[in-house]
Amino acid sequence: MDTRGEAGRSNSASLRDREFVIHPMTNLVQHAEEGPLIIERGKGVYIEDDQGQRYIEGVSGLWSISLGFGQERLAKAAYEQSMKLSSYHMFRFKSHPAGIELAERLIKLAPVPMSKVFFANSGSEANDSAIKLIWYYNNALGRTSKKKIIGRHGGYHGVTIASGSVTGLQRNHSDFDLPLPMMRHTACPHYWRFGQAGESEEQFATRMAEELEKFILSEGPDTVAGFFAEPVMGSGGVIVPPKTYFEKIQKVLRKYDVLFVADEVICGFGRLGDMFGTTTYNLKPDLISIAKGLSSGYLPISAVLISEPIWQACLQESSKLGVFGHGFTYSGHPVCAAVANETLEIYKEMDIVTTVRKVAPALQDGFRAYADHPLVGEARGVGMMAALELVRDKKAKEPFAPQANVGLYIERRCQAHGVILRALGDALTAAPPLVASADEIREINRVVGVALDETLDHVKRCGLI
Ligand SMILES: Cc1ncc(COP(=O)(O)O)c(C=O)c1O
Repeated sequence: MDTRGEAGRSNSASLRDREFVIHPMTNLVQHAEEGPLIIERGKGVYIEDDQGQRYIEGVSGLWSISLGFGQERLAKAAYEQSMKLSSYHMFRFKSHPAGIELAERLIKLAPVPMSKVFFANSGSEANDSAIKLIWYYNNALGRTSKKKIIGRHGGYHGVTIASGSVTGLQRNHSDFDLPLPMMRHTACPHYWRFGQAGESEEQFATRMAEELEKFILSEGPDTVAGFFAEPVMGSGGVIVPPKTYFEKIQKVLRKYDVLFVADEVICGFGRLGDMFGTTTYNLKPDLISIAKGLSSGYLPISAVLISEPIWQACLQESSKLGVFGHGFTYSGHPVCAAVANETLEIYKEMDIVTTVRKVAPALQDGFRAYADHPLVGEARGVGMMAALELVRDKKAKEPFAPQANVGLYIERRCQAHGVILRALGDALTAAPPLVASADEIREINRVVGVALDETLDHVKRCGLI
């Protein structure tokens, strides 16, 4: 099963890793046995491990390194800002030019009118901040019981206690005592998986909205405060919303005065072929969370953009309580902000949206070309996000047993052939850097084809099919 040449990898770094590091989202026992793939450097879309093996980073790290590795202008921006003002905060009436510039840029760039920017360090923190701001807002309006937050099964919004609760993935809840009691989850809008026989995509979307409405009514609309959605679900396996879904969902949210948070942590900054997924799906969010592509993943920075009514509530509470009692030491850190400013400048200069629209068809067509492969239940995606859902029985859409680890197998076959992709369950996902060339994307597609055939041999050999 281990395809990574462990013998050559039993160096001291591998041993020290196992001795000292806890790895996120990893089977820790398996990791202790097999050790890590140690990445030493990166340039463009390529990374290189400590054995000199090169890979295309086909998921941009964790959907974040949009401009690829070794972008000199970002390194320079970090260096120059470090020499000028290496660190500072925004607490208690302080500010700095890099943070001010970034906030202004973000408000101007926002896909719908937004009023203010609150900075944090990660997607999870941005979403936690969004949740707290929703609660703050309702308290300011005297709606002290309107506090429940609805996420979706399959949605991913982070792992901190609040954002992790809105995340709708069992693996992030089990035995961490999540979700929190005021968090709820509604249906996953995956038409291919959950659509009923004879139901059109639009009818499925109508059913999703009706279910949401029933759910809000059963909870009591005066207890439901917010709804979180990624424009396209990422970590849930690249789930593209069915036609008319968001239009119908948003109608329900408006009817019951439920605030809508668009989690743009991975869709934002060009990934879907628009600057924001909010534009792609005509969303009208009250809050928008951003991270990752904001700094091309070079430094940790995130933000939540809020609408004017929420800002007014912040002012009101601040005047009542004497302080806006929320913030992180590194909210708007000047070096991170400077790198984000330079990232946004590069996106503008290269016209990131046009760049993505030119190259994305190579990825989408390449992945869809495997739709007929015996292992592929569904080929899906949009822009520079794509997935192949592997199934045991194509017609019946029957998945493999999770313990068969088919997703991990194909991920490792891709790796063995020089392409890093990520299996989420048995969905093999790709989200290459937005600067990937058509040739680099074709190489990803080629390797996926080889890995699919090898995986088919494997599942046959193991009697899994
Ligand atoms: C949509 C979405 N929201 C939030 C997060 C959490 O971001 P972070 O890992 O920076 O906390 C992620 C991370 O992948 C994400 O995909």
